[in-house]
Amino acid sequence: MEIKVFNNEAEIGEFAGKLYVDYVNANPDCVLGFATGASPVPTYDYIAKSCAEGLVSLKNVSTFNLDEYCDLPKDHKNSYFTFMCENLFSKTDINMANVDFLDGNADPDEESARYAKAIAAKGGIDIQLLGIGRNGHIAFNEPSDEFTDEAWKVTLTQSTIDANSIYFDDIPMPRSAITMGIGSIMRSKKIILIATGESKADAVKKMIKGEVTPQVPASILQQHSDVLVLLDTAAASLL
Ligand code: GLP
Repeated sequence: MEIKVFNNEAEIGEFAGKLYVDYVNANPDCVLGFATGASPVPTYDYIAKSCAEGLVSLKNVSTFNLDEYCDLPKDHKNSYFTFMCENLFSKTDINMANVDFLDGNADPDEESARYAKAIAAKGGIDIQLLGIGRNGHIAFNEPSDEFTDEAWKVTLTQSTIDANSIYFDDIPMPRSAITMGIGSIMRSKKIILIATGESKADAVKKMIKGEVTPQVPASILQQHSDVLVLLDTAAASLL
C-alpha cells in the first residue's frame, strides 16, 4: 500500500482529481469504479471542473459504482445513482449508456451475475475508488466472518445506519443494500482509497497495520498489489 497524508480534504481532491484527469487523458476509454459518500466529493468536483474547462472528456469512459440501497426507487433523492448524477455525471460529458449501476430492486442473485458479466465484458475495472466506513467496511461489505466475492445483498449494521441516516430526512434509511463484493473490488487493477476525519482513524489504522480479517473488510487491501491510500492528518492520526 502506498500511503499519502494531506493537510485537508481539498488537497486530497486536487491530488486524486488530477490523477484521474491525467489517467483519462492517457486512456480515454478506461473503466472507472466510483464510490459514494462524502470522501470522494472533492475529487468529483475536480474532475467535473476539469471537464467543464475542456481539460478532459469522459465521453468514452465506462463506469461501475460500488453499491446501491435496496427498496429505494432509483431516482429517489437519496439513491446512490442520484448521488452520482448530482455530484459527477450531470456535470460532465459522460455518456450515460456507459454508466452501469447495481439495481437495489432487482433479484440480488441475478443482479450479481449481471454485474460480474458486465464488468468482465469491459475488461475489468482499471481504477476503483473507495471510501471506508467507521467500522472498516468498504462499499457495503460490513464486518463479517468471511470475505465475500461477487455482488451480494447485505443487511446494514447499526454503525452504518447511524453514519448514513443523517441523509434521510423524509423516509427511514433502508436497512439493506446491494454491494460489490470484496472479490470484485480486489479484481480492480488499481485501487484508490480516500479517508478523512478523526472518525475514520481507527478503521484506517486497522486497515493498514492490523490483521487481515473479514472483521475489518478493508484490511484485505493489504493483499492487493496496487493500492493508493489518501488520508488527511486526522484520519492518519493513529498510524
Ligand atoms: C457508505 C458507502 C461506502 C462509503 C462509506 C463512507 O457506507 N457505502 O462506499 O465508503 O459510506 O462514507 P463517507 O465517505 O461519507 O464517510
